[in-house]
Amino acid sequence: MNDTQRPLIQLSEVTKVFLTDEVETHALGGVHLEVGEGEYVSISGPSGCGKSTLLSILGLLDTPTGGRYELNGTPVESLSAADRAHVRNREIGFIFQAFNLIGDLSVFENVELPLTYRDGIGKAERKQRVVEALERVGMAHRLRHYPAQLSGGQQQRVAVARALVGKPSILLADEPTGNLDSRNGEAVMALLDELHRGGATICMVTHDPRYAEFAERKIHLFDGRVVDEETLNRLRAEEEQRIEEQIASRKPAAADSAP
Ligand SMILES: Nc1ncnc2c1ncn2[C@@H]1O[C@H](COP(=O)(O)OP(=O)(O)O)[C@@H](O)[C@H]1O
Ligand SMILES: [Mg+2]
Repeated sequence: MNDTQRPLIQLSEVTKVFLTDEVETHALGGVHLEVGEGEYVSISGPSGCGKSTLLSILGLLDTPTGGRYELNGTPVESLSAADRAHVRNREIGFIFQAFNLIGDLSVFENVELPLTYRDGIGKAERKQRVVEALERVGMAHRLRHYPAQLSGGQQQRVAVARALVGKPSILLADEPTGNLDSRNGEAVMALLDELHRGGATICMVTHDPRYAEFAERKIHLFDGRVVDEETLNRLRAEEEQRIEEQIASRKPAAADSAP
């Protein structure tokens, strides 16, 4: 983030602990992160390192266990559940790996849905905004189709339109290409790139280094913490060494038991 950009997202010391069957999982261990208006940030890291947890917190789908989160200047902790839902609807557009379209709603109805929760947008304006959003993703010719009648790539484009239609301040995408073949994956990445060039602020989780390259800034998560490239490489090397040592220490036993 440079000095001219207004911070939209400010996280400090954010932690998340999940409690299941008396087992504590420390999914986030004190995350600091600032994302400025108009930035495109990618978040990468190994499976289970807390990427989805972080994105859910950013998108107000989940609450941190500790720390502070300011979204567009509002301390999120201070909001009631109803206010959180309101802020989420206004400020956040979410794109999921599995598209998450509603199967018995048409393409038009799926994209319209976020607007139906808002006051003061009449039917005519809703229609205009839905068509506009679908035009931006090249899906306006499929208004009356249902999700099952579309390819994966088309469904994800519709999901992007649904995320855009409310003109949110931030687009959050969790492995948006994860369920797509490379051609469709690249098309969705090109679309995000185009939205970014048009001024959108984007945080995208991906484990694909090719797609992380699309972002202006790359963030790495490792064991629930944000780490820079150098630290990441050191941690990776240490882990590889640990695994090699484990394998080496098991070898004699494996040889003994070999037939
Ligand atoms: N709802 C949950 N309940 C319990 N543990 C969870 C929950 N969600 C995630 N976790 C755990 O938190 C850690 C981080 O998960 P996640 O954020 O999904 O990782 P990633 O998206 O990087 O693969 C994992 O160890 C996962 O098992
Ligand atoms: Mg995940």
